[in-house]
Amino acid sequence: MQQKIIILDFGSQTTQLIGRRVRELDTFCEILPYNKFPVGDDSVIGVILSGSPYSVHDPEAFKVDLAQFVGKVPVLGICYGAQFISHSLGGKVEKADSREYGRANLQTVDTSNPLFKGFDQHSQVWMSHGDTITQIPDGFQCIASTKDVKYAAYANTQQPTPVFAVQFHPEVFHTLQGKLLLKNFVVDICGSRQEWSPASFVDTTVAELKEQLGQDRVILGLSGGVDSSVAAVLLNRAIGQRLTCIFVDHGMLRKNEFQQVMDDYKVLGLNVIGVDASEKFFADLAGVTEPEQKRKIIGRDFVEVFNAEAKKITDARWLAQGTIYPDRIESLNITGKVIKSHHNVGGLPKEMNLQLCEPLKWLFKDEVRRVGRQLGMPEHLITRHPFPGPGLAVRILGDITPEKVRILQDADDIYIRGLRDYKVKLSGEEARRVLAAGVPADMQNGEIEVSLYDQIWQAGAILLSTVRSVGVMGDERTYENPVALRAVTSTDAMTADWAHLPYDFMAKVSNEIINKVRGVNRVCYDISSKPPATIEWE
Ligand code: XMP
Repeated sequence: MQQKIIILDFGSQTTQLIGRRVRELDTFCEILPYNKFPVGDDSVIGVILSGSPYSVHDPEAFKVDLAQFVGKVPVLGICYGAQFISHSLGGKVEKADSREYGRANLQTVDTSNPLFKGFDQHSQVWMSHGDTITQIPDGFQCIASTKDVKYAAYANTQQPTPVFAVQFHPEVFHTLQGKLLLKNFVVDICGSRQEWSPASFVDTTVAELKEQLGQDRVILGLSGGVDSSVAAVLLNRAIGQRLTCIFVDHGMLRKNEFQQVMDDYKVLGLNVIGVDASEKFFADLAGVTEPEQKRKIIGRDFVEVFNAEAKKITDARWLAQGTIYPDRIESLNITGKVIKSHHNVGGLPKEMNLQLCEPLKWLFKDEVRRVGRQLGMPEHLITRHPFPGPGLAVRILGDITPEKVRILQDADDIYIRGLRDYKVKLSGEEARRVLAAGVPADMQNGEIEVSLYDQIWQAGAILLSTVRSVGVMGDERTYENPVALRAVTSTDAMTADWAHLPYDFMAKVSNEIINKVRGVNRVCYDISSKPPATIEWE
């Protein structure tokens, strides 16, 4: 039986990060709403309680019956989780004099406690809480303190199964030995066999798909993105040519992308039908300027074109999708209501009666990339940045014409090639962060070399075609459009920060775009974070 850790989500922003850290320890985990613990599931080897935006004293605070798992499997409470354990088992939680936020160093740490095995004295941790524990429950011992936080960590190892609680966040990078703490918990204390790996995932998933699909035919929509591509290669391993992939070109992909991706797919042995439907999309979008309307038209046309192709495969029984785990995690909002649940497939031809197959539904994005590598896929497909379904249409302000798309494709191509070619050396925390995101790079003398492209989450150019400004080129006055460049760092696209690109890189790219792309006479860089801005402009 596959072992698993359950992470109960009390609404913290870092709950998914806890999940990713557990997976990095080659251990399967599931993130569930705080009130959905799977009682009676024997494969659960440990439970982690997340942080929360609430105080335990708030009347609406999320509460869980600890007896469901305390005494049955090891438990680790993080931040609110730690406070909730104290509050529920007879300890005391009070408002802190000042909000305890940011870096702190452990002053005392009990390295004989299994949670802190191998810890350095004064290890740096990251705090983020408004309440603090002023008394721990009977039978528990304090196992770490900082200058301001007496009960930074406490534990009861006397019970049949131990309970640990930390008021800091081991899942974030600023807690320098956070990974070690989680390893101590997951591997040593819970007894994970560390069997969750890309290789084992590929083996079991291919076997399961063979079993599930038998001799059936499957259809899959490819986008050129990493998720659908990895799903396709995995299915191809399982059922070979009984998988038919459909790749629709709406005319607003990146420069030459349709052909390049089709070539990649052919090399990978995929049975893929490429449909050039750009004329239809351009015709239906003509004169439309309102962002939502553009999106609706593209969505509708896409379904129409895809369905027309799908219907030709009359014996298909399944529709496969590259849905990944973060798309399905039921995230909680402050009211405790689920704000995101399993999405539905929109507008499939009902008469085809297709069943849904989602082979990547348990994977985080970085795991999808690792699985792609395991499957021997080319690195440029695996590390490709996310790209919106409506493509460059949401990066052209105003109406869309083939000429504007061409201008933007040329500018975007210069920018993206520049990001790929510009290498930077990283060390310390920056290097660790990039490596943890799965970017393949060799550490030499404490340094790694990576491209700007691999360092950022997503980049692209935006054509501000509703704006014109004056410039001068040679002896001539120009009156043309600006291009905005966007590059963001992020872990999940829910929040993002603008990337601090080097000035010499920006100078070079700006020069090249203005000199080479007719129709553009100005380049700006977008320095807005999300929120309040979004990553895309429309
Ligand atoms: P925003 O602009 O909302 O984007 O900050 C968040 C992430 O989602 C991508 N995005 C889309 N992806 N269809 C997609 O498949 C869409 O309509 C769409 N709109 C935005 C965006 O590129 C970013 O990664």
